[in-house]
Amino acid sequence: MPTLIFAANWKMNQAPAAATAFVRAFTDQYVRRQDRRVLFFPPAVSMYAVVQGLRDRSDLEVGVQNIHWEDQGAFTGETSGPLAHAAGARHVLVGHSERRHLFGETDEETAKKISSAFRAGLTPTLCVGETLTQREAGETIAVVQRQLRAALAGVAAPILTSAIVAYEPVWAIGTGRTATPADASEVHLAIRAELRAIAGELGAAIPILYGGSVNRSNVQSLLAAPEVQGVLVGGASLDAEQWCAIVGGS
Ligand code: 13P
Repeated sequence: MPTLIFAANWKMNQAPAAATAFVRAFTDQYVRRQDRRVLFFPPAVSMYAVVQGLRDRSDLEVGVQNIHWEDQGAFTGETSGPLAHAAGARHVLVGHSERRHLFGETDEETAKKISSAFRAGLTPTLCVGETLTQREAGETIAVVQRQLRAALAGVAAPILTSAIVAYEPVWAIGTGRTATPADASEVHLAIRAELRAIAGELGAAIPILYGGSVNRSNVQSLLAAPEVQGVLVGGASLDAEQWCAIVGGS
């Protein structure tokens, strides 16, 4: 049975008390299923609250939304992989489009963060995706290939197999515009081909998630599309009932 991944990116929402209440509401309703993994990416200040709230649920996993590539030192405002791991994180988002486009994160920085994540024992979810201008110029595949290669090509294939990739077209994030399942699949197939080019046959095992305005109404059709192994959800993951419906759907 294939394992589906449902990842909640709370972005800059949910203070510790709200995160605790959310996790309680979710765990009251959601019963463990062998065919799916559920990941939470709360803001760093709320991560410990989520870790505590989920300590009896080994089927529910927690991560941070970003790390610095250095392990420690004078980097005011930053969180390192080892610090996040020590606080209970087992995952990290790398190269989210908001990091790339709002904070100027470069391909070189995503590469450094990927190696730092592996060094710290965190599973990186590398986010890739094109802007609307790039899509309209026919550059979608070239953009995601460049982002994948820049971030992953330096990592040994056996290590890479524990990574996750998320395709998030920038024009679909927070806009209510979703890629059609066919659009998503076309890019996921190209991502799969690139992962095989980078990691050989081991590249076939890396899960590829879709993200961008996923909600309870469109999630099933996206998950049914070829090469979509899960979803990375922003806005619709902030409501415990909707998140439960997304994760618990058949
Ligand atoms: P939305 O689901 O709000 O469009 O956000 C997607 C996203 O960026 C998840 O990382």
